[in-house]
Amino acid sequence: MEARNVLVVGASRGIGLEFVRQYREQGARVTATARSDDGLARLVALGAVALRLDVATAEGASALAWPIDGEAFDCVIYCAGFYGPRTSGLQAPTQDDFDAVMHTNVLGAMRVLPQIADALAPGARLALISSRMGSIGLRRSPDGWLYRASKAALNSVLADAALAFAGRAVCVALHPGWVKTAMGGAGAELDVGASVASMRRTLAALGAADNGRFLNHDGQALAW
Ligand SMILES: NC(=O)c1ccc[n+]([C@@H]2O[C@H](COP(=O)([O-])OP(=O)(O)OC[C@H]3O[C@@H](n4cnc5c(N)ncnc54)[C@H](OP(=O)(O)O)[C@@H]3O)[C@@H](O)[C@H]2O)c1
Repeated sequence: MEARNVLVVGASRGIGLEFVRQYREQGARVTATARSDDGLARLVALGAVALRLDVATAEGASALAWPIDGEAFDCVIYCAGFYGPRTSGLQAPTQDDFDAVMHTNVLGAMRVLPQIADALAPGARLALISSRMGSIGLRRSPDGWLYRASKAALNSVLADAALAFAGRAVCVALHPGWVKTAMGGAGAELDVGASVASMRRTLAALGAADNGRFLNHDGQALAW
């Protein structure tokens, strides 16, 4: 079932913005967040309800609950993400790099999830945009180990959200593919439109038995 009332967190550009574009195109009501004026303007131009939110700040993340008070989202997507240093070995991250990546990818999700708990429609789909790079079982390279650690931690957050929301929502960690965005780079495999269309199809097809799974954009199961 395609979503009718959607929340996208981290939607100023890239995959998040494309979710907004496609869900608006199909006629859904969309609420979406960005932290910059430019990002907010892009959301307004697409007809979304635009909320300012920097997930890496305590004040920002705590400001989400009241503007969505009374909402019943049938689809919530946490898309905000930051790659951080492009390391190829075991270079120790600086404190600032560690904080920026972990605060955006992990702490932000842990702050946002409690705030959206009362705004989920019965049977809602909740997706944390994770990455195959966070998979421990599929690990073949230490490249970007800080980002990998953050997405492995995000997967843990997803597992807990699935337990906490069991019976109320279907929660999944989604790998969007290697996507042509600022993060994925021009040489990536998938256009952002194709990645998001594939994830939308997967989200629409989810059933209760999918709660707590880690899925590729096309719905294939991924090893944790
Ligand atoms: N592209 C890929 O190949 C790929 C592969 C696997 C997973 N992913 C994941 O997919 C998600 C979207 O990535 P993308 O490819 O669209 O990357 P992107 O083009 O770099 O976009 C990143 C998004 O995250 C937002 N963001 C970063 N820090 C934030 C903060 N503190 N508060 C709120 N929003 C923040 C950015 O907002 P600003 O404009 O304000 O910076 C932007 O909207 C991320 O979680 C990423 O890890 C991407």
